[in-house]
Amino acid sequence: MNASAANRAQSQLQIIPFIAGDGIGPEIMAVTRTVLDAAVASAYAGSRQIEWRPLLAGAAAVAAGQAPLPEATIAAIASHGVALKGPLTTPVGAGHRSLNVALRQALDLYANVRPVRHWPGVASPLRHPERVDLVIFRENVEDVYAGIEFEAGTQAAEDLIGWLEERGARVLDGSAIGIKPMSRARSERLVRDAIRFALATGRRSVTLVHKGNIMKATEGAFCRWGYDVAQRDFPAQTVTEEQVAAGASVAGRLLIRDRIADAMFQELLLRPEAYDVLATPNLNGDYLSDAAAAAVGGLGLAPGANLGAETALFEAVHGTAPDLAGQDRANPSSLLLSGAMMLDHLEWSQAATAVRRALATALHDGCLTVDLAAGRRNVRPLGTAAFGAAVRARLGHEGKAGRIAP
Ligand code: IPM
Ligand code: MG
Repeated sequence: MNASAANRAQSQLQIIPFIAGDGIGPEIMAVTRTVLDAAVASAYAGSRQIEWRPLLAGAAAVAAGQAPLPEATIAAIASHGVALKGPLTTPVGAGHRSLNVALRQALDLYANVRPVRHWPGVASPLRHPERVDLVIFRENVEDVYAGIEFEAGTQAAEDLIGWLEERGARVLDGSAIGIKPMSRARSERLVRDAIRFALATGRRSVTLVHKGNIMKATEGAFCRWGYDVAQRDFPAQTVTEEQVAAGASVAGRLLIRDRIADAMFQELLLRPEAYDVLATPNLNGDYLSDAAAAAVGGLGLAPGANLGAETALFEAVHGTAPDLAGQDRANPSSLLLSGAMMLDHLEWSQAATAVRRALATALHDGCLTVDLAAGRRNVRPLGTAAFGAAVRARLGHEGKAGRIAP
């Protein structure tokens, strides 16, 4: 524990800035806050407490006459070093840039961390969803997400095409152009964090997921840099698949290996038990984390964290679901589990465990929101608020629903 973490763990009052978000955001945030407050109260018998500070972003900011992502919001998250965030609308094709991406870039939240596991009681398309237990570390600020794009027919696109053709590349005139920057430093820091996490939590392997057979200079480099950082920074604690094939022992060591991205999607469904921590460039991680969440029953229970060197922003992984907004039908679990990750980050882990246990018990007892109850017979779905109350009512009880891990 470093000094600032030690201070935080001892302090009685923790300020948490939060962005409620658009669409269903305000409903799921309200319920999440009550459950987290109750978990903290029950875990620490009232000696610790969260003080929530609302921040403006998205539609609420625009309605208040401000920019969709006000400077003050970014500054508040940076100064507190932690925040919880509901979903924010991302316009497709045109309009303002994704606020989610803008926040990650502005605060250099370079690692997107998404644990994916099955919760007993939740329907899944897999026969053995309990075999899925992954943590995806996705690079969060580079790759095609860097926002370097030039529209078809613009002068900039034409200039770029000219420049490319001078170097022997053939590009159809009038093409749109997107740039995919990937650096050694940013790839290495992501893989380093994934390896550190795997070692600290006793995970067995870190798999680098890339499309380096096609994009050799970018994704191929991500893979090579990943192996480099393992060998340079963790020589005694790691072993590669290649070394094992040549006779090295894996005993007591973390296995480092790589998979081509498309094959990884297949592995996810066919042999999920063989995978553990995945480290990926930005776009691969975006695709893969939705697919992995689907394998265990959907995005409704998928938590996520955006971590930087100084700042951590925990967020619901799903979108704003505008069709459900204001109807008390949304599932707050993704945000709630992100809140539990936040409690772990603050080293308030007893409260985090209490949240996960209570949620597991509620799901096991058949307390399901509309999305989770779909297609089930004899299940009367609970509204957002009632679901929150069902989870709160189970705080402090021992979970019966198996292992409770992040
Ligand atoms: C995610 C989302 C975002 C992304 C969108 C909303 C910008 O899909 O967090 O995975 O693509 O990163
Ligand atoms: Mg996504």
